[in-house]
Amino acid sequence: MGNGIAQVAARAGFDVVMHDVQDGFLQRGLGAIDKSLQRDVDKERLSADEKAAIISRIKATTDLNALSGASLVVEAVTEDLKVKTELFGALDRVLPPESILASNTSSISITKLAAATQRPDKVIGMHFMNPVPVMKLVEVIRGIATSDATYEKIRALTEKLGKTALDCHDSPGFVSNRVLMPMINEAIFTLHEGVATRESIDGIMKLGMNHPMGPLALADFIGLDVCLAILRVLYDGFGDPKYRACPLLRQYVDAGWLGRKTGRGFYEY
Ligand code: 3HC
Repeated sequence: MGNGIAQVAARAGFDVVMHDVQDGFLQRGLGAIDKSLQRDVDKERLSADEKAAIISRIKATTDLNALSGASLVVEAVTEDLKVKTELFGALDRVLPPESILASNTSSISITKLAAATQRPDKVIGMHFMNPVPVMKLVEVIRGIATSDATYEKIRALTEKLGKTALDCHDSPGFVSNRVLMPMINEAIFTLHEGVATRESIDGIMKLGMNHPMGPLALADFIGLDVCLAILRVLYDGFGDPKYRACPLLRQYVDAGWLGRKTGRGFYEY
């Protein structure tokens, strides 16, 4: 999702530094940006010159210190509390004191991430949806210490990005994934129990509920490891067995069948 966020910010006119741990990941991200913008060039919604200008505003680096001039960092690393808190601690040391640290976490507590820094008032959740260039929503989450000034800046920025900011409190899974993941998990249970085929399950939800994708295809699109990580946050956060992950989901993740990104999930790609 990081490349989608970088693309949207650069398209809105911001200078962007895209950071990752390996050059290969950065090249893949830049490739995705190029492909996504090219769709709009092909549809004559963007000129080739505009596309080149957007790409020129994005600098890719594996050096965290290259972020030292940033007024905002949007973190979009793997959905793992330890990885995120270590990164927040490191970013806190690199960034100027007035900079805002936002997380694109799908479900992890903003309050916990903020506690890994010396600037909890400047830590906030900016939860983008996939695919970022298409989806209009940014779920904006305030941690317990997030200041009004930080919140107002992020709301205004979200509008500048051409997105709609909708607020929610810091609670496991926020609103989006607390509602979405139980649906996806239940769809996996229906497959696991042989209630219907994958095509029927997805077709019922597409044709019957007007969803653009069926829940199994959507799980593949999001990543089955991400779905499992979010369900675990819900299960641990609420202590409620209704959020237990379907054994079939756990088995697919164990097998490395993570969805589109690995070429196999509930479907083959
Ligand atoms: N970049 C730019 N544009 C893209 C794109 C991309 N990566 N992917 C699709 N598009 C554009 C297409 O160009 C097309 O634009 P147009 O209609 O203006 O010409 C439009 O999106 C529709 O694309 P397609 O015709 O290729 O395909 P679909 O009609 O099947 O749409 C989809 C694809 C937009 C992905 C649609 O299936 C969809 O909305 N799916 C559900 C997505 C969803 O639920 N996302 C949220 C996931 S949850 C999440 O992200 C939270 C996290 O925490 C888990």
